Amino acid sequence: MQWTDEEAARKILDFAVAELAAGVSRERLAQDLVQRGMQEYAAMVTVERAANAVKGLNSARQVVDYVVAELLEGVSETVLEKKLVAQGMREDSAKTAIGKAVQQLEQTAAVDRIRDFLLTELANGAEPATLEADLQQQGMAQETAHRAVVQAVTVAKHLRVEKKIQDFLTTELANGANPAVLEQDLILRGMEPHSAKASLRQAVRTMRQRSDALPKKVLNVGGNNKNIELPEHFDGFEHLLLDIDPTGNPDILCDARTLTELPAAQFDAVYCSHNLEHYHDHDVSKVLRGFMHVLKSDGFLHLRVPDMRELMKVVVERDLDLDDVLYRSHIGPVLVRDVIYGHAGQIERSGVDFFAHKTGFTADSLSRLLVQQGFAQIFIRTGRLEVEALAFKGEVSDLVAHLTGFSQVCTACGHYAPAKPLPIVPRPTAHIS
Ligand SMILES: C[S@@+](CC[C@H](N)C(=O)[O-])C[C@H]1O[C@@H](n2cnc3c(N)ncnc32)[C@H](O)[C@@H]1O
Repeated sequence: MQWTDEEAARKILDFAVAELAAGVSRERLAQDLVQRGMQEYAAMVTVERAANAVKGLNSARQVVDYVVAELLEGVSETVLEKKLVAQGMREDSAKTAIGKAVQQLEQTAAVDRIRDFLLTELANGAEPATLEADLQQQGMAQETAHRAVVQAVTVAKHLRVEKKIQDFLTTELANGANPAVLEQDLILRGMEPHSAKASLRQAVRTMRQRSDALPKKVLNVGGNNKNIELPEHFDGFEHLLLDIDPTGNPDILCDARTLTELPAAQFDAVYCSHNLEHYHDHDVSKVLRGFMHVLKSDGFLHLRVPDMRELMKVVVERDLDLDDVLYRSHIGPVLVRDVIYGHAGQIERSGVDFFAHKTGFTADSLSRLLVQQGFAQIFIRTGRLEVEALAFKGEVSDLVAHLTGFSQVCTACGHYAPAKPLPIVPRPTAHIS
């Protein structure tokens, strides 16, 4: 095969693209091409071209994925096209990406419709062989029809087993069983820990929906956007997002320092994660007073803030400087400076001051603040470079049964016996604060 042969060169390039896309390293591919008789320079050029092509494929795929997500959110095709063009895309490329996304959605919808049809028929007692024949009669290829029915039979079996597990769990929960003990029970019966957790979450959600005429409400203060998940103990709660930043479409667009202007005693819980450090020290008590104001008498607060004491310890122990990387997250390296003053990239991109950190907390300073605010029962947990607090306005709810590693704070003196901290790993949320 000669490098000058245009068709052969294209075939080699296709081969190289497929290899890189399959995860073969650039060095390995170049060696392989040389071993197949290509000159070293030509091999390097081919690998470079293939890498560019793969990059193009990936970014095109990312654009289509983004468009699919936006369409699912209800954004219209015209608005999307304008958005893509405003982001620098050519008009015809934007149209192509939208066309591909729509096609992908239609295909997915068709696959979903067929699966739903098969599951309903199987639940009604239809024979798999008959269903396969039906699909073929409607024009589906024999092999595709076979695969669709086999998959539906597997899903139906799984659903039957899951239904049995759900019936068992909801009966046990209704009889007062402890969720944590039930989870262990499932694991002891041979279930994978993550499946046991997921089944239990579903059962707790069902129980909450059954037991309450109205779902409980949680106010997520400074939550930024609803793609950032709430902890699992808020499963089944109605989620209201409050933020000063309109870009995440909050349900309540408001400065959290003015929470006392909202109607009182509306919420069963307040969740406030990596937001309290965004206020000046003299404003923190205003925000905490607002939490007390919006909480019902049996409500509770779940707070999360960076642990400045732990940070200082790590900085000294690892001999880090302000601009050293503390850990790497999926949005890039996080520097010591980012945890103290707020994530520099986010502050620069947003162009607004409220992403900056204006104060900081330790487990002790946070406990004292919560005691001063008059919370009746306070629990503190540290680890993963953050302090978490659960503060109850009145009685402690059964929520505590789900949580591990928290220590109770003495509301007379503000002291507590710290439990063993959780290991240091970056918290798995979409934002750094
Ligand atoms: C780092 S993000 C935290 C997002 C999310 N809670 C998390 O844990 O990843 C901080 C959030 O606090 C919000 N915020 C800052 N100042 C605020 C204020 N005065 N009132 C309400 N929200 C504020 C910001 O808009 C941002 O969404």
